[in-house]
Amino acid sequence: MTPIGSVIPVYPTWAQFARLPAWHARWREWFPFNTGAGNWTFSGRVALYHGLPGLGLPGRSTILVPSYHQGVEIDALLAAGYRVRYYRVDGQLSIDLTDAEQQLDADVSALYVIHYFGFAQPLDPIRRFCEMHRLRLIEDCALALFSRHNGTWLGSVGDLALFSVYKTLPLPHGGFLVTKASQTTRPLPPAPFASTFAQGMDLLHQGLEASSWSQLETWWKRASRGVARMIRWNRNGTIASGGARWDPRLLEYGASPWIVPLMRLMDREVVVGRRRANYAHLAARLRGRASLPFPDLPAGTCPLFFPVMVPDKVAFQQELERLGVQSVNLWDAPHPTCPPALADEVAVWRRHCLELPIHQELSADQVDRVADAVLHVLGSSRSHVETQALTVAASA
Ligand SMILES: Cc1ncc(COP(=O)(O)O)c(C=O)c1O
Repeated sequence: MTPIGSVIPVYPTWAQFARLPAWHARWREWFPFNTGAGNWTFSGRVALYHGLPGLGLPGRSTILVPSYHQGVEIDALLAAGYRVRYYRVDGQLSIDLTDAEQQLDADVSALYVIHYFGFAQPLDPIRRFCEMHRLRLIEDCALALFSRHNGTWLGSVGDLALFSVYKTLPLPHGGFLVTKASQTTRPLPPAPFASTFAQGMDLLHQGLEASSWSQLETWWKRASRGVARMIRWNRNGTIASGGARWDPRLLEYGASPWIVPLMRLMDREVVVGRRRANYAHLAARLRGRASLPFPDLPAGTCPLFFPVMVPDKVAFQQELERLGVQSVNLWDAPHPTCPPALADEVAVWRRHCLELPIHQELSADQVDRVADAVLHVLGSSRSHVETQALTVAASA
């Protein structure tokens, strides 16, 4: 297989607007944007940080958090002045409520759950658990915008929910905070123009890379260098959404005013429908040929990525990139506060789980390209039998 001209981006880009214009989307009617006590922030971690005071938790109290986590959500809880204690997740990354119960003591004030890849945690037992033990529930929906479970929107059950909107939709940045607190959080000052501009340029550039208009892309690269010089745009001075590094400067900011006109271009039904169709298509292509921890898509799930277990994640990702397919190496390291024995239990996920693109911008042909690239790299690396063992190990 030879490298291919256009790139398949792992996140949606502004190429979407050429194909999926909604123009007048009534996005304020969609959950979570229709909630009275909702607020835009710069990103998901900023939403979490600013939502916490509304929960009224005792200062320095303990929040139960999962052993499989990104790390910045833990940083946000610590920065807001809380302690954390870890609970186990099972082989399918569902909360182990028996273990969570064993972690309880008088200091524990809240339970933090993460809906991984857009797949729901078992919300009914979780809600009962929180009621029984008088805990506040925090739903981390950073990876789960527009996902539902049994008709309930993820993020609508917890006392606080955070979303990382720019991961699902092509926005330069944008987190959203939903809280059951009676008072809305105070709006934050808009993100700096230079940061929004830089991130907007990235979305446009990635869109051009994805569209195989190589001439246009070359022109754009030249033009953007010129524009950057013109406005003395120094990227070191800008703030960026995403990433595993904790940057306290982000906490100062809400979303840019650009977000509102951009949201009008989105189409929720297309986003959910395409993501689901692309996920099912990729699952059908890879089933039985690659190690798939979540081959089936429950009704209502809006998946962010397609997780696959691969032998050597970093090398695999590089090989895919060479074939023009981007992927995400999610969460390769635990937070330093996670006890090593617990961290070890999810080490298989951290070492082997790679996330593939299935977003709304991709056509069935592009999903086929993703599948072909994965099968090619698998064929030229280790045997399928070996990768199959990874799923067994992850779900043990
Ligand atoms: C589970 C989880 N929670 C919170 C966040 C923070 O979201 P953001 O990057 O929008 O600040 C992330 C980011 O990847 C995440 O994966």
